[in-house]
Amino acid sequence: MAMSPAVHPAERAAQLRSRLHEASHRYHVLDDPEIPDVEYDAMLRELDALEAEHPELADPDSPTRRVGAPPSGRFEPAEHAIPMLSLGNAFSAAEVEEFVARIAKETGEADPVFSVEPKFDGLAISLRYEHGRFVLGATRGDGAAGENVTANLRTIRSIPLQLRGTQPPAVLEVRGEVYMPRKGFEEYNARALANGDKPLANPRNGAAGSLRQLDPNVTARRPLAFYAYALGEVSAEVALPLTHSQTLAWLRGLGFPVSLLVDTARGSCGLLAYFTRIGEQRDTLPYDIDGVVYKLDRYDQQRTLGHVSRAPRWAIAHKFPAQEVATTVEAIEVNVGRTGAVTPWVRMTPVQVGGVTVSRATLHNADQIARLDVRVGDSVIIRRAGDVIPEVVQVIDSRRPRGADGQPLHPSYRLPERCPDCASAIEHIDGEVVARCTGGLVCPAQRKQALIHFASRRAMDIEGLGERIVDALVDHGFVHGIADLYRLSVDDFVAMKQRADPAVGELPESEMAGKIATKWAENLVTAIAASRDTTLGRLLFALGIRDVGEATAKALARHFGALTPLLDADEATLQQVPDVGPVVAARIAHFFAEPHNREAIAALHAAGVHWPEGAPASADAGPLTGKTVVLTGGLASLTRDAAKDRLEALGAKVGSSVSKKTALVIAGTDAGSKLAKAGALGIEIWDEARLLAYLAQHA
Ligand code: IVH
Repeated sequence: MAMSPAVHPAERAAQLRSRLHEASHRYHVLDDPEIPDVEYDAMLRELDALEAEHPELADPDSPTRRVGAPPSGRFEPAEHAIPMLSLGNAFSAAEVEEFVARIAKETGEADPVFSVEPKFDGLAISLRYEHGRFVLGATRGDGAAGENVTANLRTIRSIPLQLRGTQPPAVLEVRGEVYMPRKGFEEYNARALANGDKPLANPRNGAAGSLRQLDPNVTARRPLAFYAYALGEVSAEVALPLTHSQTLAWLRGLGFPVSLLVDTARGSCGLLAYFTRIGEQRDTLPYDIDGVVYKLDRYDQQRTLGHVSRAPRWAIAHKFPAQEVATTVEAIEVNVGRTGAVTPWVRMTPVQVGGVTVSRATLHNADQIARLDVRVGDSVIIRRAGDVIPEVVQVIDSRRPRGADGQPLHPSYRLPERCPDCASAIEHIDGEVVARCTGGLVCPAQRKQALIHFASRRAMDIEGLGERIVDALVDHGFVHGIADLYRLSVDDFVAMKQRADPAVGELPESEMAGKIATKWAENLVTAIAASRDTTLGRLLFALGIRDVGEATAKALARHFGALTPLLDADEATLQQVPDVGPVVAARIAHFFAEPHNREAIAALHAAGVHWPEGAPASADAGPLTGKTVVLTGGLASLTRDAAKDRLEALGAKVGSSVSKKTALVIAGTDAGSKLAKAGALGIEIWDEARLLAYLAQHA
């Protein structure tokens, strides 16, 4: 949003104000935001700076002067006895350090204590209790007055209708956030899609939109929840605690939900450590947060600092890097996976999101394309959460390129009818979300994916055989089926490299380059040879049977002990394997019934691939059968994969996140949030020595 020097400050301010007014109207009144929050924040910051630099541009109606949007007029207005403030933002460690330094200076205390809290991504509300009864609930509105949404708030189960305790205050206003838990959001959207209703854009819009329904029965069907984090008006007879953190504990006692993640911390190091800790947990939390909030804990110190127009000077929100940003669609393409699944994706102008640059985002499937109506040239909002592939969440309709006649320049996108890799028909079965290429192993895309999977670390573990080499091997006809890998010689790889990279083939090859190529080829041939010595579990996983993941492959290997009985098992027999239901049993039986799959296995065997075979496992396989174990932190004497294999051999299921269902957590060095969570949930925790002793005992 850089200002071009040609634009006059007054014009720019007017432009920014009008854009901000429009965006704020769409967000707060229509519940239908169109631009990402980062863009809104950037414009607001620019306008703030412009107004500070040019006081003559000041305008009482400027978006910089208000906290939110005015009531929409559909609900009764509700005035706030004490204004509902907003928070200033920090986006970097430096800004947090500056904030702490200012507070230290103004309070005269070198190391003041802060209450540190998640920043819930929902909608701020104020709840008023008179003599212990919930009498009025209001949205923030413009900070001075909001909307009376009492009837809707009464439908939210985590909001107490009656305070606990015997002597309730005459007046108590509690403030906090109404939010939509992720699970509820996903379930709601799944149902909406199934019924042909409009899905919610994200949990925050879901919360806001649900609360502003005119019919409380509609709100009651939305999965909403509440967390308390502040006070409003409190009658004089109440002896309030002296700190904010004590107040939160007191509110908990009165029956309000207060997040278990709230804590206290000192100094900028303490605050930043909390930011990191919560950031690490962010993706596994059951609700969305967009940062953390630091609040000076002592009320007397808060009073010393006071507040500026929109926000207290004793608190600040430290925001995570944006997960949603806008960019432009350059092309829409499809990718064909190992099972033929056709996944549409967009190639877009590269953007920074959540701290990394991305240039592709997934569209998931044809339904999603139809829902979003994404077209080439569109401005879109993409979202990247944690390590998941970025996805397109919305098209910014007002920015769609249009011709002079007002019609869109580009047509709606349709999935191709033929596979881009093998020209086989793409089949879209009614009722199934995924479209598939019907080419099977004729399709080079599927063959490549099958080979990449076969070679991957948790499968046959062929080091160095990655995507680019597999692409070249298939494109230049060196490999058709998986067993062909075991026939490749050093000369084949060198020849392939020359063909794959024409520049290398044309130029007279230097002796050095030749040596490097030979070394590279030798390493690959050695890695392929080493993979011949494998386990039945790895082999079964490597075959890429649909819906047979690593855990199921290992369970099959354990159950049958050898390949032949598995090849001959019928669906009923297969269902006796733990975790194998009718669908997976059918897939496995179909896979082994296909002559070409049996041939591929025979070819692998003929190429020297071998694995130890044993007796089938007894009914309850090992001492850890039925138990979920989570590994966290570093282990000194064995790799994580080895530890996982050993635990699985004893029947354990090795999980990645700690929950109530976890039976045991193995904590190595520098174990972080998982260890903390295990402690909080009272789960058994072992260190490495204890694990080794146990493994030795059960060897
Ligand atoms: S305290 C006087 N604490 O963030 C301070 N706000 O950007 C008032 N929010 O309007 C707010 N989590 O909607 C506070 N732990 C938390 C919060 C929180 C989320 C929201 C709230 C507020 C907005 C300000």
